Amino acid sequence: MRGSTMYRGITTVAGALAMFLWIAPAVAAAAAGAASAEPALLHATLHADQPGPKIDRNIYGQFAEHLGRGIYEGLWVGEDSKIANTRGYRNDVLAALRHIHVPVIRWPGGCFADDYNWRDGIGPRAQRPVRVNSIWGGVTESNAFGTHEFLEFAELVGARSYLSIPVGAGTPLAMEQWLEYILSDSQSTLAQERRRNGRDAPFKVDYLGVGNESWGCGGQMRPEHYVDEFRDYTAFVRAPAGQMPKIVASGAADDNYRWTEVLMADPVVTQMPLWGHSTEAISLHYYSTPSDDWNHKGSATGFTAEEWARTLSKALHMDELIAKHSAIMDKYDPERRIALFVDEWGAWYDQELGSTPGFLYQQNSLRDALVAAVTLNIFHAHAERVRMANIAQMINVLQAMILTDKEKMVLTPTYHVFDMYQVFQDATRLPLEIEAGSYVLGKLQLPQLSATAARGSDGVVHIALANLDPQHSASLSIAVAGLAVHSVNGRVLTSAAMDAHNTFDEPHVLEPGAFNGASLHGSQLVVGLPAKSVVVLDLH
Ligand code: AHR
Repeated sequence: MRGSTMYRGITTVAGALAMFLWIAPAVAAAAAGAASAEPALLHATLHADQPGPKIDRNIYGQFAEHLGRGIYEGLWVGEDSKIANTRGYRNDVLAALRHIHVPVIRWPGGCFADDYNWRDGIGPRAQRPVRVNSIWGGVTESNAFGTHEFLEFAELVGARSYLSIPVGAGTPLAMEQWLEYILSDSQSTLAQERRRNGRDAPFKVDYLGVGNESWGCGGQMRPEHYVDEFRDYTAFVRAPAGQMPKIVASGAADDNYRWTEVLMADPVVTQMPLWGHSTEAISLHYYSTPSDDWNHKGSATGFTAEEWARTLSKALHMDELIAKHSAIMDKYDPERRIALFVDEWGAWYDQELGSTPGFLYQQNSLRDALVAAVTLNIFHAHAERVRMANIAQMINVLQAMILTDKEKMVLTPTYHVFDMYQVFQDATRLPLEIEAGSYVLGKLQLPQLSATAARGSDGVVHIALANLDPQHSASLSIAVAGLAVHSVNGRVLTSAAMDAHNTFDEPHVLEPGAFNGASLHGSQLVVGLPAKSVVVLDLH
C-alpha cells in the first residue's frame, strides 16, 4: 500500500526526505517528469554480519547464437573488414565485453545448435560449406565463425566457454569427435587436424549443454525420451584428465515442472554412475513479454504504461518459477549439488519494424534496465541453486547488451545495469529485509521496490535498488546492522521517459550517473529513489 504504515519512526526522517530532494542534476531532471505525489516511505534492514551464499559470477553470463546479426556483424566482421578488429573480432565490442567482465558465453544456440555440424565450421574459411540457417530467417550461414573462432573469442573476452551440443539432429559419436578435436593433446588424427587448422594447444570447454529446448525445437521430445538421450550422450562425453567439461542437461521452459520432475527422478541424471561424471546443472528458459500473444508481443519502444507494468510483472514471475523448479530439485538433491542454470532469459518484444524477418532485432530501453535489475536481484535471492544465467542475447538479438550498425556501436541500458552490477560477481549475499511497497496500475499490483545486498570480493558492501514505479519516487530508510558505515556513494540509471534508449545517432541518452540521493544518519541509511530507476550503492 502506498504510504505504508510500517514506518517505525526515524528522528531524522525530515532530513532524510530533504536529502531525497537533493539529488544529482541528471536525476533531478529525470524525476521532474514524474508525478509530484509524496514519496512512499519504506523500511529495510541490512544484516551486514550474516554472510549468505556466494553469488556466482556466472549469473552474469551471456548467450550468443547464430541468429540475425548476433554473431556476424555483431562480434565477427572478419579480418579484412574496414571495421577495426582483432583477427576478425570487432575491437569496440571486445573492449565493451571485457569492461563488464563477461564470465561465460553460451554458443552456438539456441535452436540453431540442435542441427549444427561442427565440421562445417573448421578449416580454411574460404573452403567451409555455406548452409542455410533454416531456423532463423533462412539466410545463408557462411560458417566463417566456428569452433576456433568461438573458443578464441571466449579467451579474448576472458570468459568461460559453454558449448551447446546437438542432440535433436546430432549423434553421440559426432559429439565425442568434436570434443576430441577440441580437447585432445594426443597425436590422434582429430588433434592433428586442429593443429593444422592453427591451434596447437587444446582449447578448454568449461560447460557442455546436452541439447537445447529438447521439448521443442531441439527434438520435440517427451522428458522420458530426453532422459534416455541424456544417458546415451553422457556415456560418450570423453575428455583428457582434468579437462572434463561440466555437464548441463536441457531443462524446462517456464512452468513445465513435469520436465524437471522427470529429469531429477532419474538416477543417471542425479548420480551419473559412469566414468565419475556428474551433472552440474539442469537448465531453465524463461522470457518476459508485454503480452501473452506471441504474434503481438508489443514493441520495444513507444509502449504504454500498462505494457511497462506487464513486462515487469512477467520479469518478477521468474522468482516463482525458480522457487518451484528448485523445490522439485530439493526432493532429489537436498544438498543442492545440481544447479539450475537459467541459460536463456530476457525481454522479448516484436522485432523492430523494417528489420530482417527472423532476426529478432529489438531496441532496448529503460524498461529493459528494470527487467535486468529485477531479474538479477531474483537470481541473487536464489544463489544457492541458480549458479549460472545467460541473458538472451549478447549482441543485436532480443535483450541485447550491445547494438551495432556497420562501424557504429551502442551500449544499451541493459549493458549499463550489468556494468553497475559487476560488484556482485562472486560477492557474498547479505540478508536485506525490505518493505517493498506497492506499485498499482489498474488491476496490476507489483512491489514498488526490488533489492539485493552483498559484500563484494573487494570487501565493500553493496546494495542495489530498483524502483519499478514509473510515476512515483520512493524514500527508503535502511537500518544497517553489523557494519559501521562512514560514507556512501553510488550510481543511478534513470530518465524522464519510460522508453528512453540509446541510438546510433544519440548513443549517450541513457547512461549511469553519480547518485547523491543517499545519506547516513547514524546507523540509518536514507535513500531517495527516483521513479523508474536502478541504483547501486557502495557502503564504505
Ligand atoms: O533466444 C532465441 C531462441 O529462444 C533460442 O534459439 C531458443 O532456445 C529459444 O526458444
